[in-house]
Amino acid sequence: MATLRAELGGAASAHGGAVVGPDDSPDLLLALEPSARDIPGAGPDSSAGGFRLVRDDGRVTVTASSATALLHGWFHVVRLGAAAFDGPDADERHTPALGLRMLDHWDNVDVHPYMGQVERGYAGGSIFYADGRVREDLSRVTTYARLLAAVGIDRVAINNVNVHAREARLLTEDLPEVARIAAALRPYGVRTHLAVSFAAPMTLGGLPTSDPLDDGVRAWWREAADRVWAAVPDFGGFLVKADSEGQPGPFAYGRDHADGANLLAEAVAPHGGVVHWRAFVYNHTQDWRDRATDRARAAYDHFAPLDGRFADNVVVQVKHGPLDFQTREAVSPVLSAMPRTRIALELQVTQEYTGQQQHVCYLGPWWSENLSFRPWGHDGASVADVVAGHGPDAARPVAASGGGGIAAVSNVGDDAFWTGHPLAQANLYAYGRLAWDPTLDPTAVLDEWISLTFPGADGAVAPRVHDTLHAVMDDSWRTYESYTAPLGVGFMVSPLRAHYGPDVDGYEYSKWGTYHFADRDGIGVDRTRATGTGFTGQYPAPWRDVYEDLATCPDELLLFFHHVPYAHVLHSGTTVIQHVYDTHFAGVERVRDTIAAWESLSGSIPADVDARVRERLAEQLRSAVEWRDQLTTYFFRKSGVPDARGRTIY
Ligand code: GCU
Repeated sequence: MATLRAELGGAASAHGGAVVGPDDSPDLLLALEPSARDIPGAGPDSSAGGFRLVRDDGRVTVTASSATALLHGWFHVVRLGAAAFDGPDADERHTPALGLRMLDHWDNVDVHPYMGQVERGYAGGSIFYADGRVREDLSRVTTYARLLAAVGIDRVAINNVNVHAREARLLTEDLPEVARIAAALRPYGVRTHLAVSFAAPMTLGGLPTSDPLDDGVRAWWREAADRVWAAVPDFGGFLVKADSEGQPGPFAYGRDHADGANLLAEAVAPHGGVVHWRAFVYNHTQDWRDRATDRARAAYDHFAPLDGRFADNVVVQVKHGPLDFQTREAVSPVLSAMPRTRIALELQVTQEYTGQQQHVCYLGPWWSENLSFRPWGHDGASVADVVAGHGPDAARPVAASGGGGIAAVSNVGDDAFWTGHPLAQANLYAYGRLAWDPTLDPTAVLDEWISLTFPGADGAVAPRVHDTLHAVMDDSWRTYESYTAPLGVGFMVSPLRAHYGPDVDGYEYSKWGTYHFADRDGIGVDRTRATGTGFTGQYPAPWRDVYEDLATCPDELLLFFHHVPYAHVLHSGTTVIQHVYDTHFAGVERVRDTIAAWESLSGSIPADVDARVRERLAEQLRSAVEWRDQLTTYFFRKSGVPDARGRTIY
């Protein structure tokens, strides 16, 4: 293909119509056909955004029924490059598996005293707000929307789920400013959502109560929703963190989460809006002495009994694990407990517990494991199926409106590289691609990102750059896991440094419910039915039994489910204590290998990117050594068991 001629056509121009004649056909035709009915998921009312791609003798026609869907088709062609035209004749339908694909920004308008402007943000300040208000210049927001459209994300919540007093006002007096953000996102088909406070009727409306069953409260929310949609006609909906870590919620009135969610659902329903209601609910003022209370159980205990009671436009948004975005934890049993509820999977693209964008940690493989997990065993539906609306019971599908899709906490800020660590951009890319098609191979997705991000002079990535980036990134999540908390036990992070770096007992005697119970004899949390908290019983068969039994529990989750002696022998053949030593020493060596690999690219990577990555890699090594030395020393001192290989432990 020598030159590319592209045209954008309306219905009349599709397939060589009035605008483009047969003798003057463009190489690429993008045709908007609002009446197209033959594209699954691409109906005019759908947010799904599917498109059709026809390749005929080297010419490509993309057809979609909405502008957003057509954009997705355009970016698909961009991603393929020359390959879009070179392949054999084809007629393909591309439909996103998940209808709702969303990013949640934990951005504050103001700078929070100890969280900064972006809660758990590692890429500078907010792209939406500066100096206590919505930014004057929102051009970067439009660039961001283009970036999201390129990976298939079409919804963004623009403020923190912890809604502080200043941010609450986005719902009322700041609506014209919200409308400006929505206008900046709209050209690329990205819809705006707001996180709202359940107490808003009182704090903003001056009502004496926020009781979800109170008529005045219901009227207040209806009027609030009417005002929002009047200002932003394509507004998406509300996101709510209620009765969680101090946020207000329905419990104060003796009501449950279905009452709370349905209150807002009723208000947004006339506008076609959605309520994302988070299931991240647990007791955050626990007594560490109380061994019976298990934070992992909490979301299921609160939400599973409510299955079937949520309105059709409520999506219950469930963190992938029962604890809190750990490097490794079991898949949340809530995902398989609510067949009559629209469920969304919530991931964390921002690397709160996975290296805070100081460490290289490509999360595609971890998300892929979660999405492909089959709660009912090998022949059953996967988590991706559940959030697509195809749960275990096909005869009784979830709400007519489909599944709840996927949401994730964004890793983007006003940093020059968008994500702090330039290689963390791959996580944003992978999130979007897996949201579109959860069955994609995460290594192949990384391959796309590498090719698109590091093109050589001829437009193709140099083989050496390609191979080296794979060497640096493919296994980086497992490398991170190897030098941090072992065998699924979780946490062990520093409370003082906002969860960055090691502190084995940092949360051991705290109120947060995140314990490892290490003593001189052993470590781990007994979550069995036989002798522990009973958490294993929240899973359907076969997992309830697989996790219950030491003989079948996978090594990587052993300490998540069991308390075992240090001498316990893993399936891998090594003991728990020796595993801790071996993985921590090996992890640091892998970081050294990563650095050597990256440095071999000297001169082949743009200088500013190279400099930033080198700076981060140096910090990663310092931090990995600290993790290794603290963890190996801690467990040597606790257990008294020396390293079989005699390495230095302090
Ligand atoms: C984690 C995180 C908090 C956040 C919370 C949430 O606990 O540390 O900053 O508010 O998750 O998901 O709501």
